[in-house]
Amino acid sequence: MSWLAICPLEDIPSLGARVVAGPNGDIAVFRTADDRVFALRDQCPHKGGPLSQGIVHGERVTCPLHNWVIDLPSGEATGADSGCTHAFPIRVTDGQVWLDLSGAADDTAAAPVACREAG
Ligand code: FES
Repeated sequence: MSWLAICPLEDIPSLGARVVAGPNGDIAVFRTADDRVFALRDQCPHKGGPLSQGIVHGERVTCPLHNWVIDLPSGEATGADSGCTHAFPIRVTDGQVWLDLSGAADDTAAAPVACREAG
């Protein structure tokens, strides 16, 4: 893994997200109400909506375009919907958020991605 310092945790709004530029497109870094963080490609598996502009609730985010609900740890659509966006390993150490982009080179916006757990 190749951990990159992204920002202090305080720079990410609670129940919101911050966008980080990745090698193959934007990555949304989410913060939950209890200060956990998750990182997903900023592209809804439905029609590419910006998940970073969605509403975070629990360990999920609701896409702002058509209300698909995406699981933050896995990037998988929930309920009756099916699809997946890339989840990146992420962690917080001493208030600093770290992101691992080592798998990002395999991630392309055009290709379906395999779900995998972050962390
Ligand atoms: S683009 Fe996200 S629900 Fe349609």
